[in-house]
Amino acid sequence: MGRRKNKNQNNEEDRNMAMNNNNNNQNHLRFQDADEVIEDAAETSNLDQSMCGCDLDDSDGKTSADYYFDSYSHFGIHEEMLKDSVRTKTYQNVIYQNRFLFKNKVVLDVGAGTGILSLFCAKAGAEHVYAVECSDMADMAKEIVETNGYSKVITVLKGKIEELELPVPKVDIIISEWMGYFLLFENMLNSVLYARDKWLVDGGIVLPDIASLYLTAIEDKDYKEDKIEFWNNVYGFNMSCIKKQALMEPLVDTVDQNQIATNCQLLKTMDISKMSSGDCSFTAPFKLVAARDDFIHALVAYFDVSFTKCHKLMGFSTGPRSRATHWKQTVLYLEDVLTICEGETIVGSMTVAPNKKNPRDVDIMLKYSLNGRRCNASRVQYYKMR
Ligand SMILES: C[S@@+](CC[C@H](N)C(=O)[O-])C[C@H]1O[C@@H](n2cnc3c(N)ncnc32)[C@H](O)[C@@H]1O
Repeated sequence: MGRRKNKNQNNEEDRNMAMNNNNNNQNHLRFQDADEVIEDAAETSNLDQSMCGCDLDDSDGKTSADYYFDSYSHFGIHEEMLKDSVRTKTYQNVIYQNRFLFKNKVVLDVGAGTGILSLFCAKAGAEHVYAVECSDMADMAKEIVETNGYSKVITVLKGKIEELELPVPKVDIIISEWMGYFLLFENMLNSVLYARDKWLVDGGIVLPDIASLYLTAIEDKDYKEDKIEFWNNVYGFNMSCIKKQALMEPLVDTVDQNQIATNCQLLKTMDISKMSSGDCSFTAPFKLVAARDDFIHALVAYFDVSFTKCHKLMGFSTGPRSRATHWKQTVLYLEDVLTICEGETIVGSMTVAPNKKNPRDVDIMLKYSLNGRRCNASRVQYYKMR
């Protein structure tokens, strides 16, 4: 999820190099089937679909919710997700390699899209799958289910999970691909938690069940100059008022692992089977230790998800050391350029919360300080994912 940002289209070429360099990378978190996923993976598509969810012009009377669901009605966004083979292959492997979880079980697929996860579950022996999809893609999902001969096993229900009733009182498994940019953008996790509390049987399982958000720091001079400092002098005119806005918008992009100058710090782990929706708002401290002398221009956030109920731990990472996914990474540029020496630390905290007006957006407050030999800086910065 989180596929509605079109703001980085120009970045593709510059960053493709970084993606190509990722081929030999080691996953930050080793999942047992990661190698298999990587080998099987067809080329990952990183088309940035032009999405309407973030640019809200309500002149046609549509709400942000309308735009959100409309964005999933077009096949293009589903094509991008399906072609993200790290993502889709991991779900496929989780399901096909753990048939014991699905055999004779009732499954609820929250946000079924084309129905791909429901089809995997049906093929793995699920007794019945309820595929809930609110966008018009539900009509396609129905046709796809029929065409593939699964009408008896998969029931596609068109509507918001929060607004419809299931024909059964309980389900054994909830599966969903709800993750957005920066993990929490789009806030679809809330819909999964709603479904869990309403329909999951005691002892039932949620797939995936663990999601973790990480933070690291990068050198990114060229790109910061291109995206942020650019506004200082535009054909001889000072447009730095836009620079302030540009700084507030995290950039979704792939980062070359060679840019990473510190450790990667775990910020937050969420247990989807237990957490409450309030846990999507949190403050997490961090301590980033420089691995070398360098300049720091930005902090970078990324996430991992895992499926711990599998026979062997499975999952994937969206980190810069792993094969690129359509989620890329989330780059938060700093107002300061930090001159850091090996062993010195950037300490601080990150506060994350859904935006009050539009809960699909994410507000981020970053506090950081560096008391180093060559640089002393302390600052609070605000960002908004939208
Ligand atoms: C990230 S896509 C995943 C689609 C599909 N499961 C896959 O893996 O390719 C999430 C889907 O959930 C749907 N969705 C989001 N919130 C929903 C809700 N509250 N009720 C029903 N569907 C929802 C969206 O329309 C979108 O098609």
